[in-house]
Amino acid sequence: MTSISTATPGWLALRAPADDAARSPELARDLARMLPPGSASSPLVLHDLGAGTGSMTRWLAPRLPGPQRWILRDGDADIVEHLDLRAVVDASGTPISSDVVVEHLASLPSDAFRGAAAVTASALLDVITEAEAAHIVAACTDAGTPALFTLSVSGTARLRPAEHPDDVEREIGSAFNDHQRRDQDGRRMLGPDAVAVVGALFAEAGWNVRTASTPWRLARGNALTREWLDGWTAAAVEQRPALAREAAGYRARRDEQAAAGRLRVTVAHEDLLAWPR
Ligand SMILES: C[S@@+](CC[C@H](N)C(=O)[O-])C[C@H]1O[C@@H](n2cnc3c(N)ncnc32)[C@H](O)[C@@H]1O
Repeated sequence: MTSISTATPGWLALRAPADDAARSPELARDLARMLPPGSASSPLVLHDLGAGTGSMTRWLAPRLPGPQRWILRDGDADIVEHLDLRAVVDASGTPISSDVVVEHLASLPSDAFRGAAAVTASALLDVITEAEAAHIVAACTDAGTPALFTLSVSGTARLRPAEHPDDVEREIGSAFNDHQRRDQDGRRMLGPDAVAVVGALFAEAGWNVRTASTPWRLARGNALTREWLDGWTAAAVEQRPALAREAAGYRARRDEQAAAGRLRVTVAHEDLLAWPR
């Protein structure tokens, strides 16, 4: 099996509060209005792709009517061991039911979403390939199932206080974006192009597409900031090793600001909702 970009449970737990604050409640509300009524004998079936530890289900289920049955799909058998859906309820307070499918997206059956009410994902589109995205979109359009894909990185990060000059920071940002689009074991990931590519695939199929800007806003003292900075600079240097010395100096300046509680970061993401005309 080809490798996939995995995440650790610790990283997903650390980012969860920023993710929850960032996702668009408006797009979730729009999705809720599209859903057919469910019943105890025929619950709404929702698929969450790249489910990880279940963060999207925990955030979205209470915003949608029920009863709900979730199918959580992920290619990493270890991460789904940490799934935690205890206490997840729908909008009327009814507990959800769920099943887990361990499966690489390339093996997603083309009729996987037949009869489903919605397909969701969070922090997934940027780590998949164009072929995998096309496969997901085809499965959605074939089944006529609306899709809500949240928190795809869109390629910009703003750090405050601003650096003058900011050329090292701009180089790191650009190298990081190239790293996001890198070819890994023959898989070229969509990175910051994800929402444009997936939106175009749905539009080509004649579907409606709505997007929302959903940045992380990491305030001073947020523990996620240093972890994010670590990953951002390390990926940039891995992509362009010639940046190593300047990136180390940059990192030291930003670390000092973070330790003093002075660093604020905004990391751009986008949510995408697609539904049939
Ligand atoms: C960044 S994590 C996001 C997890 C979760 N949706 C969240 O928001 O916390 C991406 C998840 O997608 C899964 N994944 C990535 N590429 C995949 C693929 N091609 N097939 C199946 N799962 C994949 C990873 O195993 C990981 O659990």
